[in-house]
Amino acid sequence: MEKRQKIHEGKAKAVYSTDDPDRLIIDFTDTATAFDGAKRGTIHEKGRLNNLISALFFEKLAEAGIPTHYRGTLSDREMLVVPVEIVMVEMVVRNIATGSLCRRLPFIDGTELEPPLVELFYKDDSLGDPLINDDHALLMGLASREELAEMKRLSLAINDALRPYLMDAGIVLVDFKLEFGRYQGGLVLADEISPDTCRFWDASTKEKMDKDRFRKDMGKIEEAYQEIYQRLTRLKGD
Ligand code: TMP
Ligand code: ASP
Repeated sequence: MEKRQKIHEGKAKAVYSTDDPDRLIIDFTDTATAFDGAKRGTIHEKGRLNNLISALFFEKLAEAGIPTHYRGTLSDREMLVVPVEIVMVEMVVRNIATGSLCRRLPFIDGTELEPPLVELFYKDDSLGDPLINDDHALLMGLASREELAEMKRLSLAINDALRPYLMDAGIVLVDFKLEFGRYQGGLVLADEISPDTCRFWDASTKEKMDKDRFRKDMGKIEEAYQEIYQRLTRLKGD
């Protein structure tokens, strides 16, 4: 597999073409941003850890029959994927109320959401990724009604697969953000699933083990990402 030119530069990842038109390489960097890029920093080892943690999740989801863009891990920071057309709707699944939900609506921080809540956000940093509903997405031509239904179904199926897996590692899956892409006439899970895109709380201490530590300047950021990776790899070894 020959890595060719950079075709896209995101906030924390870069995408490269390869000599195979059906394969791209995602390069995970240590750059961290929050609040739509307003806050910037570096988290040592984040690229490696997010790449490896995402790979573990994508493998788990493949076992559960969820289609993803993941096709392999090339190195500590490089993931092999299929090329997709990203749907500009971010799907957020919430099992526990916190974050923007509690700022927008009178949900009490830390309360369980049963059934889990699925929210849609328009993927546009210049607008601050605003909350939208299916009708907005349809009118803006972001996705078809069928695609929106499929993204919701897949988001909940991903939650069902990852919650017990993480709980086995003593981690509560509080909420997470997903992105989907069009590939060969269907939708596949794309982007990453990592402490950058999820909230993880330690099951016994409720300590935050994710990017909220960076957003809120809580310290011990790299340690938290390391701990997530170590717990999941330990689980794999059992
Ligand atoms: P929120 O409570 O700030 O809306 O975040 C919900 C989840 O989505 C949380 O797990 C963090 C994740 N997230 C992203 O991955 N990217 C983003 O731009 C935002 C705002 C949240
Ligand atoms: N991912 C977004 C950013 O990079 C926001 C966040 O994660 O808080 O700005």
